Amino acid sequence: MANLRLSKINKVFGSVHVVHDVDLEVLDGEFVVFVGPSGCGKSTLLRIIAGLEKATSGAIEIDGEVVNDVSAAERGLAMVFQSYALYPHMSVYQNMAFGLENNRMPRAQIDARVREAARMLRIEEYLGRKPKALSGGQRQRVAIGRAIVRKPRVFLLDEPLSNLDAELRVLMRAELAGLHARLGATMIYVTHDQVEAMTLADKIVVLRDGRVEQVGRPLDLYNHPANRFVAGFIGSPKMNFLPARLLRAGADGLTVEVAGLAPLTLPFDGAVLSPRQELTLGMRPTHVRHQADGEFAGTVEVSEQLGGESYLYCRVAGEHRVVIHAQGQSEVRRGDEIRMSFPPQHAYLFDAEGTALPRPGAARQTAPAAVDVAS
Ligand SMILES: Nc1ncnc2c1ncn2[C@@H]1O[C@H](COP(=O)(O)OP(=O)(O)OP(=O)(O)O)[C@@H](O)[C@H]1O
Ligand SMILES: [Mg+2]
Repeated sequence: MANLRLSKINKVFGSVHVVHDVDLEVLDGEFVVFVGPSGCGKSTLLRIIAGLEKATSGAIEIDGEVVNDVSAAERGLAMVFQSYALYPHMSVYQNMAFGLENNRMPRAQIDARVREAARMLRIEEYLGRKPKALSGGQRQRVAIGRAIVRKPRVFLLDEPLSNLDAELRVLMRAELAGLHARLGATMIYVTHDQVEAMTLADKIVVLRDGRVEQVGRPLDLYNHPANRFVAGFIGSPKMNFLPARLLRAGADGLTVEVAGLAPLTLPFDGAVLSPRQELTLGMRPTHVRHQADGEFAGTVEVSEQLGGESYLYCRVAGEHRVVIHAQGQSEVRRGDEIRMSFPPQHAYLFDAEGTALPRPGAARQTAPAAVDVAS
């Protein structure tokens, strides 16, 4: 088991700069998830850690040792890819044993490791089968098993569940969480699925265009997003954003105006803001209340009834789209006029650059766990 530290990692492919000054510390036994939209550099960063790609600049340290010039095979890491990359002509057993045989490990030791991993992954009964005779979920388990038998210092997983159907993904997600708990291993997991990130991670790293937007525990990112991008990326359905303008800053907070709506006074400290400054009001769908005496009127454009919960996609003041997520079932139909309220204590405000204004009573989460690169 190991900890890992990235300091000022950059990666340039030809004329494209795809990873920018990434600093990160991964603690021993931690489950760290890289999340971000397609093309933001998640796989590239993972491949740099694995040694499959060379960093253009910056240092990669494992347990205090700089490994930039250590080959992938000697870093003691194991990578699981989205495409399981199993050998089709080999049995499950052989697929798992192959890497160890190459390292000339004694046969009895290989056998013990393969059987232990198979037991852990519940694929013991398939050891004699070829990959083509397995389901997607079983193949993915073999791919993970092949990493487990190597007893790596760090597991690197690149979207390992994305080839599975929705139901199996949920199942495998829970199994991965259990596996991490049993192995106590350091894991770095790449996904573009924020639900996977929220449910699996001890620590989430949100990437955008090759830059770290925020690092933190899942609920810290959800409750205290550092900026509008993280606020919109973490949480489903997405946070509602409404363009707003500062009317005044007073002792009771900031009063903002959203076009077409009555002014809202929100509990924020606005000492640094200038009058009329452009802001964005953020409100999670789960915090918008549909209630008869709500301050705001909206027209329902879509009403989704899932049985246990409902989603109302509304148009407010003719121009703002607001989604309401409520528990239970709702009688509301398309075209209905409804009233809603935005509880001020749940509001978020972002400045014109997208940076979150600090909320009262909440320690501001900027980029915690960043590495002190001077050391
Ligand atoms: N070998 C390469 N040469 C040039 N550009 C590359 C190369 N590999 C990746 N890129 C570019 O680097 C950027 C980051 O790619 P990367 O594969 O790391 O993204 P990702 O976050 O893993 O995306 P996805 O979610 O789609 O897998 C992309 O714009 C990609 O086109
Ligand atoms: Mg990728």
